[in-house]
Amino acid sequence: MTRTPRENFHDLSNAVGGILVGAELGERRSKADDDRATFATLASGARRAAELMAALRPAIAAASEPVQSDVARDDAYIESLSSKLSPLLQRTKVECERDSIPLLDVASARLLALLVSLAKPRDILELGTANGYSALWMAQAFDGASIVTVEPDNGRAVTARALFAEAGVAERIEIVERPALAVIADLGDRRFDIVFIDAVKTEYADYLEAVLPNVRTGGLVVADNLVWSHRASTVPSNDDDPATVGIRRFNARFLSHPSLRAVILPVGDGIGVGVKTG
Ligand SMILES: C[S@@+](CC[C@H](N)C(=O)[O-])C[C@H]1O[C@@H](n2cnc3c(N)ncnc32)[C@H](O)[C@@H]1O
Repeated sequence: MTRTPRENFHDLSNAVGGILVGAELGERRSKADDDRATFATLASGARRAAELMAALRPAIAAASEPVQSDVARDDAYIESLSSKLSPLLQRTKVECERDSIPLLDVASARLLALLVSLAKPRDILELGTANGYSALWMAQAFDGASIVTVEPDNGRAVTARALFAEAGVAERIEIVERPALAVIADLGDRRFDIVFIDAVKTEYADYLEAVLPNVRTGGLVVADNLVWSHRASTVPSNDDDPATVGIRRFNARFLSHPSLRAVILPVGDGIGVGVKTG
């Protein structure tokens, strides 16, 4: 088992303390001058070691902190400089994290909101509402946007509806409580300026093919979780879970699709942005 610097330092402190106690006792109890001098030298060395260790204590504590990856540190740095989330977004984020409801990473949410404010879409389709966090980011990014968002889980849809009402955006957001593929199949000739894909990972590639006819030329397809917690880039094997296989299938199609100019950015859990070219 690997011991931390803090654990080794603790044991070393105890050992030096033990030497000091023994040396001081020996110094007091020795009858012969030579022995007393030897114990005094030992005690003095142990005291010096204890002083040096006290000076080292802060560095040992720092070395024992969990190591933060460079990417996580960059993310935290950028987030520390970014504008604060609105109280409703912040509360929703905290509630989702508390209740293990999946939600967009904050860096990805900021990018999505930026795309919405740039594109000024009239119509947005979101696949995967959950508690409404990402839809609220989009609604607040451009108040001219109407959003259709798809969530078959009734409990989550109810929570999202309450959030949209509280945020004053309910009249611009329709929640459809059916599976995404069934909703897309019924879209007919409705057209969207942005489609945001964030539902079932095994179905991503099917969403893309099915929904592209409903995206206006020049419109955007945005998709989340495209690096899938670093699993998408691992060497493929027969043991891969279906979601990883589904994400890889989507990524390959997305980046080479004849109707898209697309990129995947290593933001959050990997976010794809594609423009429909024709
Ligand atoms: C990753 S979460 C969405 C997170 C949300 N976009 C956000 O960032 O706040 C995916 C959601 O898709 C929903 N879902 C599950 N099956 C679905 C389906 N067949 N069609 C659409 N959504 C589905 C899940 O219930 C879940 O709430």
